[in-house]
Amino acid sequence: MTDALETYLADNADRRFSSYLEFLRIPSISGQPEYAAACREAATWVAGQLGAMGVEHVEVAETGGHPVVYGDWLHAPDAPTVIVYGHYDVQPVDPIELWETAPFEPFLKGDRVIGRGSADDKGQIHIHLRATEAILATRGGLPVNLRFVFEGEEESSSIHLDAWLEANRERLTADLAVISDTGFFEGNRPAITIGLRGICYVQVDVATTAVDLHSGGFGGAVQNPANALAQMIAALKGPDGRIRVPGFYDDVVALTQADRAAFAALPYDEEAYRTALGLSALVGEAGYSTLERRGARPTLDVNGIWGGFQGDGGKTIIPAHAHAKISCRLVPDQEPRTIFELLRGYVLEVAPPGCSVEVHYLGGGRPSLTPIDHPATQAAARALEATFGVAPLYIRDGGSIPVCASFEKILGLPVVLLGFTPPDANAHAPNESMSLANHETAIRTVVAYWDELASLPR
Ligand code: BES
Ligand code: MN
Ligand code: MN
Repeated sequence: MTDALETYLADNADRRFSSYLEFLRIPSISGQPEYAAACREAATWVAGQLGAMGVEHVEVAETGGHPVVYGDWLHAPDAPTVIVYGHYDVQPVDPIELWETAPFEPFLKGDRVIGRGSADDKGQIHIHLRATEAILATRGGLPVNLRFVFEGEEESSSIHLDAWLEANRERLTADLAVISDTGFFEGNRPAITIGLRGICYVQVDVATTAVDLHSGGFGGAVQNPANALAQMIAALKGPDGRIRVPGFYDDVVALTQADRAAFAALPYDEEAYRTALGLSALVGEAGYSTLERRGARPTLDVNGIWGGFQGDGGKTIIPAHAHAKISCRLVPDQEPRTIFELLRGYVLEVAPPGCSVEVHYLGGGRPSLTPIDHPATQAAARALEATFGVAPLYIRDGGSIPVCASFEKILGLPVVLLGFTPPDANAHAPNESMSLANHETAIRTVVAYWDELASLPR
């Protein structure tokens, strides 16, 4: 890192911290309609930051949902062009009573900035904003060409992003996409994520009569939607952790000996993982390790289930309807729509008589894998080692970022997942936090990465 850049970052430390908190104060929850204005405000905030530092063609672009923020800086003629992607939207905050302070009133506790979005992903957009600003302010230009694409619907399956990418294919020419929306390995060890799972999200609605029935007067003679739903859900998975939907595993690429050796070689303490979660046992698909189950095998989980009487005391009814949200994490080469059709077909097949069952697709995303030996991945590894002081691990993580596969499929670009959150960031949970040390060092990593990319042979 040059002295000028370090001096700039030191001189601007307070302003940088304030702008981080300012961004986090905007409650940009994409999934809840009442926060639509806040999502737009977050987009406008990001656009304002880009414009102020000298990024060009800054635009808050309409999508049919929450807007995409676009901006570019393209004055490095012989250098690669990188799409920098992040998402300014965040997850809902419930259960709110478990937060130490209000989720959108971020504060610093020790090394941690606590607040919704501190890690996932506003904190990581902020890393890119401040890195770009520091380079432009101290050098007058960037070593690479950048196109920023910051979306506001990632936490809602990026529903409108593919159409926007298709429509803007011409102006999105680039050599690679860099996404800072993943994290470090256990023990806060720097990591490059080389694989993410996909997802298929559905809702099952079971209904019978127009209104609830007296469970004494009718019980025993009619179908109970809650019982029926439980029966269907129970049929989806065996005691061995295998998903029983016929055809579910057909497109799964089996792990190779080398894949399994790579998982086994990671410095992973399974007992520490179990005890940190306060669990009596870890469970999952027979024949696979915990890391394989989390990173490279598909899943089926109920995310929510409701129906009937939920209040205090008892109410003797047969509910008129019952519902479940169910999602499958997918691995290469499973397709979300294909899995939806298989799942829907099987749920309808195992549905007991006397009720109507509907299965709706709520969203999805494809899985993705990037090769470790890609020069852009190796350049990222050098930048991490130069700034964090240790060589990164290569990991396959279980979460999903739908745009990864879209960058590959729609724009034909390799994707580098260069994320910086600590593994105990509580993403999506109460008291989400980001290590300020990781955040600060990551700004230097991004600068080092652009310099590394610029020096690659073209
Ligand atoms: N940043 C995460 C993805 C992630 C999670 C990467 C864990 C690596 C480890 C992202 O914001 C996310 O939460 N994605 C959703 C996608 C879904 C709503 C389609 C997810 O994985 O649940
Ligand atoms: Mn994210
Ligand atoms: Mn997320």
